[in-house]
Amino acid sequence: MDKNIVNELKGIVGEEWVIEDIDRMLGYLVDETAELVRPPPSRDVVLVKPQATSEVSEILRLANKYRVPVFPRGGGTGLVGGCIPISGGIILSLERMDRIEIDRDNLMAVTEAGVTLGRLIEEADRAGLFFPAHPGDEGAQIGGLIACNAGGARAVRTGVMRNYVKGLEVVLPTGEVLDLGGKLIKNNTGYSLMHLFIGSEGTLGVITKAVIRLYPKFGATATLIIPFNDRKNAVKSVPKILQSGIIPLALEYVEKDLVEKSAKRLGLTWPCRDGKAFLLIILAEADEDTVYLQCEKIDSICKENGSLEPLIAESRREQESILKIRSEIYSALKPETVDILDVAVPPASVGELMDKIDEIERRYGTYIPVYGHVGDGNLHPHVMRKEGWSMEQYEKIKEEIYMAATELGGVITGEHGVGYIRRKYLRLSLSEEEIEVMRKLKKLFDPNNILNPGKVVP
Ligand code: LAC
Ligand code: ZN
Repeated sequence: MDKNIVNELKGIVGEEWVIEDIDRMLGYLVDETAELVRPPPSRDVVLVKPQATSEVSEILRLANKYRVPVFPRGGGTGLVGGCIPISGGIILSLERMDRIEIDRDNLMAVTEAGVTLGRLIEEADRAGLFFPAHPGDEGAQIGGLIACNAGGARAVRTGVMRNYVKGLEVVLPTGEVLDLGGKLIKNNTGYSLMHLFIGSEGTLGVITKAVIRLYPKFGATATLIIPFNDRKNAVKSVPKILQSGIIPLALEYVEKDLVEKSAKRLGLTWPCRDGKAFLLIILAEADEDTVYLQCEKIDSICKENGSLEPLIAESRREQESILKIRSEIYSALKPETVDILDVAVPPASVGELMDKIDEIERRYGTYIPVYGHVGDGNLHPHVMRKEGWSMEQYEKIKEEIYMAATELGGVITGEHGVGYIRRKYLRLSLSEEEIEVMRKLKKLFDPNNILNPGKVVP
């Protein structure tokens, strides 16, 4: 990195917040992408930690002037290499921007980009409110969650990050600051630029602040585990549950081997002994009677499809433990994983997609564990390491799974995004015309291609 640029950066944020020593920034060179597909980071980088929007703006102006790439990052919990500095430049960490305020009367949080998901959940709880989504790792930061439009388990009723964002402060790659939306439930004023930044994966602007919608605390919640001996019966029950009038927070599909492996790694126990395939359902309602009636209704729907005795967890500790085991399946499988896929299909086609993946698994003589957000039609098939296999063989499996999802009207990513590693498959889901419009937008916001270059747009 050019010495003069480093000095100017020090002038903006203060000397101690510009880190040049590579050994002090190793954690900032990677994300949670599995090792075999993770792009190697450049080491010709400088790490900068601004504390205010005005500093972010000055950094971007400087970078734009000298045409230096900037790689914004939050908690680094992404799974597609989206924040990895794939060329020399500035790593922009928003971690110091971590102020949060809860507005109880409007049921909203105003948070800076560096606030972690864990803290948002905690602060909302302290104010007697609730953030229903659970987009994965609680170390993720708000800016990154919004930039990547993260999804996660509790999206069936209240949606993914996009559905919660009501306002955004964004710094453009050329340094201008946009203040979009606000504490508004209804806002129909002009083009929704705000939504363009949500899910743009740090390629159009740097998110510095957000207004997030919160919900009242539910009077009663329960986590239901419904065991089945047969996957097909579990999956068949999903549309029936969704048609019954019950709208759960989460409706997940997991398998015995996977949850047991995850539980073991965490020193926890999967509480259900029976069955091989499970539906995991999170219910939240105003009172216990309603939750209880819903549990009974779900049980009777599933029993018609051959389910075994359900397990109902009501204590907060037990529910949290089940969600933790579910959320960390990826971490448990990661050492043996080549790539975790994130395909999404129309929800009613999930069973068919699973059958197709079974067929691919058999044909290649390999193991493809599958689990995920069945209520949303979003699955995570894992391409696993296999003795003696080359990258081309893994690629073939990946392409077959992508084709299977595409044929069902699906897409290559439901929640993890495109980042670096999914760009080459983008054409399976988007037309040439769409990609061209994306290119034009990128050029409009970032004429010199300094912000997270080489990501999302092929
Ligand atoms: C999950 C993450 C990997 O659903 O998206 O576990
Ligand atoms: Zn997921």
